[in-house]
Amino acid sequence: MTRDPSSFGSRRSRIWHEASSIVHPGEPVTAMSMTEFIVRARAAPVVADQFLAAVGNGDGVENLADVLRNALFIAQSHRRDVRLTLVLERSQDYSRIVIIDGDKLGSLENLHEQALLDVIADALRAGETLPKNGEIVDQRGILVRAASFEQFIKEKVLAEDPSALFLLDKKGLDVREADLTEDLSIVLTDHTPMPKKSLKALVKQGLRPISVGPRMLHAAQCIAILLNEVDRQRF
Ligand SMILES: C[S@@+](CC[C@H](N)C(=O)[O-])C[C@H]1O[C@@H](n2cnc3c(N)ncnc32)[C@H](O)[C@@H]1O
Repeated sequence: MTRDPSSFGSRRSRIWHEASSIVHPGEPVTAMSMTEFIVRARAAPVVADQFLAAVGNGDGVENLADVLRNALFIAQSHRRDVRLTLVLERSQDYSRIVIIDGDKLGSLENLHEQALLDVIADALRAGETLPKNGEIVDQRGILVRAASFEQFIKEKVLAEDPSALFLLDKKGLDVREADLTEDLSIVLTDHTPMPKKSLKALVKQGLRPISVGPRMLHAAQCIAILLNEVDRQRF
């Protein structure tokens, strides 16, 4: 079957023109626009020792080390313009939101899997006794908050330009059609799928599904690909 590329292209670009933030001709692309990844980790324990003990048990907790590496680090440096927000949900009280901001992060000695998992575990330990909505910043500049994924997203939707909010979804619109030059927040899951009900709710709140390619990838792979697309537009 042949497809008329011009009609296909114009329909897609119209969708994206409506959907994305608009860059006016002649305006510089700011290198310090922020990209935030909000990774929902439904099976990840919020208690530090349980989090570490869960590595390799099938829930994919260890994937968070790859997520952290791919989101924040590049060769010889780290990404100051990326914020990684992990929402860990296996809890007896409240979910914990661990926010690792490239602009605030001090140096890390090692980037191997155990070292990266320890960074998350140390933050969880600092936030172990938080009351609901309480927050604390650990000695590395990592913020931990006791709040739910739904609460966090609700606040994002209220605070941010809706055109900046995306949901990673293999069937979404092609990332290459999107304007990635402004601040972005992108929601994805780690290993455990997003419940269908949540997916629907996120789309209803205005998050736009965006795809990085035709195959189902690991969360960390999606992040690496997406950041490469961001780099190509911003630098
Ligand atoms: C490892 S996947 C989750 C897979 C999960 N086990 C499932 O079967 O649904 C982690 C995240 O990456 C996203 N993802 C994976 N491949 C993608 C692609 N090609 N484009 C956009 N998002 C993708 C998923 O939507 C999900 O948010």
